[in-house]
Amino acid sequence: MKHMRRIGIITAGGDSPGLNAAIRGVGKAALSHEDMEVIAFRDGFRGLAQDLRLRLDKKALAGILTVGGTILGTSRDKPHRMEINGQRRDMTDAIVATYKRHKLHALVCIGGGGTHKNSMRLMERGLNIVTLPKTIDNDVALTDATIGFDTALGIATEAIDRLHSTAHSHHRIIIAEIMGHRAGWLALGAGIAGGADVILIPEIAYDVKKVAAAIRRRSNLGSNFSIVAVAEGARSVEDAAEFAAAESRKKRANSGDAKKHAKADLAALEARHAGNTLRLAKQLEELTHLEARVSILGYVQRGGTPSAGDRLLATRLATKCVELIDENVFGVMVAARGDSTKPVPIAEVAGKLKTVQTDHPWIESARRVGTSFGN
Ligand code: F6P
Repeated sequence: MKHMRRIGIITAGGDSPGLNAAIRGVGKAALSHEDMEVIAFRDGFRGLAQDLRLRLDKKALAGILTVGGTILGTSRDKPHRMEINGQRRDMTDAIVATYKRHKLHALVCIGGGGTHKNSMRLMERGLNIVTLPKTIDNDVALTDATIGFDTALGIATEAIDRLHSTAHSHHRIIIAEIMGHRAGWLALGAGIAGGADVILIPEIAYDVKKVAAAIRRRSNLGSNFSIVAVAEGARSVEDAAEFAAAESRKKRANSGDAKKHAKADLAALEARHAGNTLRLAKQLEELTHLEARVSILGYVQRGGTPSAGDRLLATRLATKCVELIDENVFGVMVAARGDSTKPVPIAEVAGKLKTVQTDHPWIESARRVGTSFGN
């Protein structure tokens, strides 16, 4: 009997459009090898810990290319800290046991920052892992693009387009809050594509007075409405200083107690920051005497049909992933590089964040068309 190479696959972290295209790409490319088969596990690392499986045969792979979300389900569960029956447990051993029980040849983990850290931990326990970068935030290190970003960019841009006409009619400031976690890619991209007058991103701390001045300048020139594209992680100069101080306290904490306090301080700061966009609207109303409204785009950005760009990217990365597994290349993420792909060590990706460089060409272009970054 022929020895079968069995490949496990999971999707982990926040979902994003294009995940099913990636699952299909891995599945179809693997099944084109006579000696490969694929077992999918449900709900990210939880499915591995609890051995929750889904058969990925030809039938399961049919018709999913255009479908949003992930047919496997996903979760933010971490192998080493998983809630099981109301208790936090280290499930790493259980995951290793599942991998061995099914005699997996390799495991494909499709995910973002958290998934890469978790994959690293499992690699250290001897698992053969290949990852694919996905997140609408586009913040995974060493890849040009991540699966999901292009679709979210389209959705956020369309939202800004629509906000323009109502802002114009009512002579208002409309602030569109855009996802992206700690990176500004989505707000920057959609802000440029949608022609936002102000773009605020985490990488450039803003001065609210300068934002107001940019809006007043527009009013003085006859445009008494403005669109502000604000990344959910954008911070004012004052908030950025507070966060930096809290983060440095956390880094310097050298006892268990000090670490706990520093972590709690940071969490409290994050919680306070959660309503930041609404606060910004109030501040801008006071400073400009224009009415301001907020539109939080939220999860709409992650939902629905993947764009052609994301389907293409997912298929390119997924098929390369199977080629690498076939060649016994493990411990790598399949990165997008121009029209091509490149395997990069997961060790070099895990724990790193790809943020927007302040001299990035997109920022240069935005400034040249008169966009304010509030600095
Ligand atoms: O990472 C994708 C993302 O949508 C971020 O933009 C956002 O901050 C976060 O996930 C929301 O996470 P959750 O789905 O856990 O609420």
